[in-house]
Amino acid sequence: MNKQTQWFKDAVVYQIYPKSFMDADGDGLGDLRGVIGKLDYLKELGIDVIWLNPCYKNSGVDGGYDISDYRAIAPELGTMADFDELLEQAHKRGIRIVMDLVVNHTSTEHAWFIESKSSRDNPKRDFYIWRKPFEGGVPNGERSVFSGPAWEYDETTGEYYLHMFAREQADLNWENEEVRREVYDMMHWWFKKGIDGFRMDVIDMISKDETVYAVDGGPHRNAFNGPREHEFLQEMNREVLSHYDIMTVGETGSLTTQEALRYANLDGSELSMAFQFEHVEHDNGYLDNGERSKWSTGPMDLLKLKEIMARWQTELHGKAWNSLYWSNHDQPRAVSHFGCDDEQYRVLSAKMVGACLHMMQGTPYIYQGEELGMTNYPFTDVSQSRDVEVYNAWQELVVEQKKITPERMMDCLRYKCRDNARTPMQWTAGVNAGFTEGEPWMPVNPNHTYINAESQVGDPDSVFSFYKKLIALRKQYPVIVHGDFTLLQKEDEQVFAYTRAHEGSTLLVACNFSCEEARLDEAARTRGEMLIANYKEDGDPGVLRAWECRVTLV
Ligand code: GLC
Repeated sequence: MNKQTQWFKDAVVYQIYPKSFMDADGDGLGDLRGVIGKLDYLKELGIDVIWLNPCYKNSGVDGGYDISDYRAIAPELGTMADFDELLEQAHKRGIRIVMDLVVNHTSTEHAWFIESKSSRDNPKRDFYIWRKPFEGGVPNGERSVFSGPAWEYDETTGEYYLHMFAREQADLNWENEEVRREVYDMMHWWFKKGIDGFRMDVIDMISKDETVYAVDGGPHRNAFNGPREHEFLQEMNREVLSHYDIMTVGETGSLTTQEALRYANLDGSELSMAFQFEHVEHDNGYLDNGERSKWSTGPMDLLKLKEIMARWQTELHGKAWNSLYWSNHDQPRAVSHFGCDDEQYRVLSAKMVGACLHMMQGTPYIYQGEELGMTNYPFTDVSQSRDVEVYNAWQELVVEQKKITPERMMDCLRYKCRDNARTPMQWTAGVNAGFTEGEPWMPVNPNHTYINAESQVGDPDSVFSFYKKLIALRKQYPVIVHGDFTLLQKEDEQVFAYTRAHEGSTLLVACNFSCEEARLDEAARTRGEMLIANYKEDGDPGVLRAWECRVTLV
């Protein structure tokens, strides 16, 4: 990252999962030409940057995160000519494009892996992490994030390779300098094409502690944040990032605020910012055996959520940069997770969660459909899932180990599984929500008849118009970009209220995360100029109505 580059600070990013955004050729899968056709919609919304989920050639196992050729577009999504046109058309509209960089692992169909597995003395052998068996079995007890052992046996050479995700996603060996050089070359290649940045997939896993590879039959260890993590990122920064006017965001599930001061330091030595997971995982629950797990739903806990978000706001202020998100392709829908998706409160709470996040310090990310208040899908059976993470977890936790009952697991999938975010974008009330003229690869949410872009774009009271205004406010008021953060009513279980202050102006944000009325303390009482609110009629300045939000300039 060019040390002068700070445009990411006032930018708003819109995330596109291409397979589910818009299908231009009628095969039931979204594609790049579909994205091109919707650029004017994004321009209307007012976003500055698109983060495009992987659209490279892949082996179809994990939503494009299993790349078999980093320099080719997946044929099902289009051609390189389509990509070039997308970049050109986006730039014409003042919209930048950030690509997904998936370099912790490649697909086992990647040419490097095919060579690597062909023999123990192949020059590419050391591109991946191969280990001998331990006492005839796996080298050690390392577990994959997608359930089961992280080691897969390969008969060709009688050794195991490491895969922290699906067995078709082999981990690259970052200790090998040649691997790093290949990755940097590929990054230069994309930057020379004119892309504006990278979102870096599980980037905190590229360096692993050597115990993760030990052939010792030992237990599962932590494969995040290894000893050379920052050395690698600083090298990447020197070799590649610092040469371009770009932004970067690291996906860093293991992140603490202390670590973020290194990954996302404002000195520009590593990345522009990072995605932390604490707030989206604050409500992970417990399996029947008492183990804490993503696959168990704990209720949302506003006190915990506020503590986490306030800590990130205050500890990074002036030192590092936050990314702000409620949802993405790995998370449930924002309104279903943090708001209330029943019809009485959906619109109100979708606006409220939007305001609560967008008035904080950092770069906001809007996941496709969030600006419409799209909701989770009413899944009834695990067979409706299209996600390798879900199949594997079901097999392990429900079928084999019986750590959770099928009913509890289904409740959890409805609440949390990644498929919720991957159902097609709802453009119209018509057939397949206007997403495709073919058979959609994922079912379309039946609520598209009343939750869709067509009905919202021109409606001043819609969630879309509210998001448009949130984005416009960020451009208008420097306090939203630069202000410091003070949490109010810390112990209140309904209200999330805070102030932001910068050069004599103060922003007051008050949000009610409940269906009941909530009282505002003196400090949070509504006063000043109303910038945005989700109720039309002014209310009592000391009371918030159900899911109400008010943002004022004091
Ligand atoms: C990241 C991606 C996720 C993918 C995983 C493996 O967490 O966001 O979708 O499955 O990495 O690449």
